Amino acid sequence: MEIEPFALERWFDEHEHDADIMLAESGIRSLPADRFDLDPGKLGYVIPTDGDPEFRAEIAARYGRGPDEIAFTVGTQEANFLTFLATLSSPAPPGGDGPGTGTDAVVVTPTYQALYSVPDAIGDAMSVPLEPPTWELSVDRVAEAVDDDTAVIVLNNPNNPTGRYHDEGRVRALYDLAAEHDAYLLCDEVYRGLADDPLPPVASLGDHGISTTSLTKAYGLAGARFGWLAGSPGVVDAAVRWKDYTTISPSLFGQHVAEQALGDREGDILSENRALAREHHDIVADWIADHDLDWHDPVGVNAFLTVPDGFDGSRAFCRAVVEEASVVLAPGDAFGCDDYFRLGFGHETEQLEEGLARVGEVIESRR
Ligand SMILES: Cc1ncc(COP(=O)(O)O)c(C=O)c1O
Repeated sequence: MEIEPFALERWFDEHEHDADIMLAESGIRSLPADRFDLDPGKLGYVIPTDGDPEFRAEIAARYGRGPDEIAFTVGTQEANFLTFLATLSSPAPPGGDGPGTGTDAVVVTPTYQALYSVPDAIGDAMSVPLEPPTWELSVDRVAEAVDDDTAVIVLNNPNNPTGRYHDEGRVRALYDLAAEHDAYLLCDEVYRGLADDPLPPVASLGDHGISTTSLTKAYGLAGARFGWLAGSPGVVDAAVRWKDYTTISPSLFGQHVAEQALGDREGDILSENRALAREHHDIVADWIADHDLDWHDPVGVNAFLTVPDGFDGSRAFCRAVVEEASVVLAPGDAFGCDDYFRLGFGHETEQLEEGLARVGEVIESRR
């Protein structure tokens, strides 16, 4: 098995530690840990290892599903990884008998790299690009790419890096396409909680829908490393058999924080985070107008912006910004879009304003 290095993680590894300001984070700022009870009483494994059954039942109800149709994982990253192992027909899950009927994934791009590179390493991935500058999803183009070898269609909605939130009609059309081909629609919904009016999750659409998500991006609880996948019992069962070989169980500590964040306090946390996202969105919109850049107005806290004039592509621009202004941005070439860069605006207001001022100076210095 061969897999590409994760371009964005490598870029962060090079610069994140030493730079003054991080404007490349894709999620909302972290909540203070002291807002939660941090004592789960003991620190053993979560038993059973796919998560506390009562808590699973509560989360499953969000999808109109039962507790055996949810597995708790270490973040969305693991949930996606296990979903690919479960749905692609080869290799078969431990013990044989998986739900997968094909070897291929059809992936809507640009997207978070793991959603393409992982299925491409396990089987074969095909990309169906969104059309700039509005990043509209063409169901027809996905339909042209899907055939009997397709095991899974992959969508990230709202999308990283573009911030495009594909509408319910298009998502349902992708679901129907997956169902017609006896395949699955996997939707990574990790940014969904930042939308003011979230669409129904894909796992609620029927047996061919799989949703993955976590506490990371919308709740500001990345360090809890707590996520899940929701889907039909066959998919979840195969994923759990693979999970025995990845992390065994999610962290008990993460599950303890999740029980609080997804309980009574959820409404407050999400409205607080959405308000911050709205406020910062307006700051970024003004800055974009001041510097003559273009974007598709995003849902979430990622702006995918055109590289300004005077720079030879996204990496040259981001390198100039980190070297001259000590601000980390995300180069679009990490998403296969060299004319764009991603700016995360979910973190502290002061950092955002200072970071934008510094990036603005670099842009204007070349004009
Ligand atoms: C679309 C998407 N999925 C998954 C992840 C990883 O999230 P988690 O912290 O839940 O593993 C990211 C992180 O940037 C992401 O953008």
